[in-house]
Amino acid sequence: MPQSTPLHRNRAFVFGPPIVLGIVGSLLLFQSAFAGPRLDLVEQKNQSIAQSEKPIERASIASHAFTRMQLDNPSSVFVIVNKQRPITPANFVPGDLVEITSSKALDNPRGHSLSLPAANALIAMALEMQKQGQGQMTLNSGFRSFKTQQALFEGVVKSQGEAQALLKAAKPSFSEHQTGLAADISFPAQGCAVMTCFGGTKAGKWISENSWKFGFIVRYKLGTEGITGYSYEPWHLRYVGYEVAKLYAENGMKTLEEFWGLPAAPNYLPEIAASTND
Ligand code: DAL
Ligand code: ZN
Repeated sequence: MPQSTPLHRNRAFVFGPPIVLGIVGSLLLFQSAFAGPRLDLVEQKNQSIAQSEKPIERASIASHAFTRMQLDNPSSVFVIVNKQRPITPANFVPGDLVEITSSKALDNPRGHSLSLPAANALIAMALEMQKQGQGQMTLNSGFRSFKTQQALFEGVVKSQGEAQALLKAAKPSFSEHQTGLAADISFPAQGCAVMTCFGGTKAGKWISENSWKFGFIVRYKLGTEGITGYSYEPWHLRYVGYEVAKLYAENGMKTLEEFWGLPAAPNYLPEIAASTND
C-alpha cells in the first residue's frame, strides 16, 4: 500500500486555507466594489504623507552635521547672524565680494558689493523681474564693513533714538550685511523704496512669493520681531542658497531661527548691550 503523505492525510489542511482566503478576498472585493474607498482612510493617508514628507525633507538639511557646523561660518551661505550670534571674527570681510555693475535690470548707484553667489542670484532675479514687467531693481545696500555698521547704528540712534535704532539697525558685527549675503532692494518706479509699504507693491509681493526660486528669503517678515528683534523689512533679502530657500518656502517658515531650530534672539546678550551702549 502506498504511503500517504501528510498532505493527503488531511484534506482540511490542503483545501481549508485557499477556501478561507477566497471568501475573505471576495468580501474585500465586494466591499470595495460597492462601498467605494474609505474616505477617512484616504484622508488619513494624505495627511500622514503631508505631515511626514516636508519635515523629513527639511530635517535632512537642517539636521545634517556638516551643514549645522556652517551656521557659525561667515563664509558659508548657511551662516546665521542675529542679536545673539555675532559674526566672528568681528572684522570679517568676505573673500569673494564683487561690485555689481549697473545694468538695465539692476541699478547700483552707490557701487555696493555682494558675495559672489548672492550677486549672481540677485542679477538673475532682477533680469527675471524685468522680463515680467516689474521695472528696474535698485540695490540700496549690500556688504557693510564693521565700521559702516557702527556709523549706521550710531546715526540712527542720533536721529531716531536708541529704541528705534535697535529695531532698525544691527550693532557692528551683528548685521547680515557684513557677510555679503544680504541685499536691500527697491523698485523706485513702484514707490515705497526702503519703506514697509514696499511689501504691498507688485514687486514686494512678487519677492515675497518668488525670491526663494533664486535662493533668497525675506529675512525680517511681518510679525517676527519677537524672534529676530527687528521690525518688518520687506526689502532686506538674505541669500541662503536654493536648497534652503526652497525648503524654507515649502514649509512656510518665517525665520531662519525657526528653520534651523535655534533660539529666538530678540535682544542682545547683556554684555553686548552694555558694551555698545554709548
Ligand atoms: N537692518 C538690518 C537689521 C541690519 O542692520 O542688518
Ligand atoms: Zn538690510
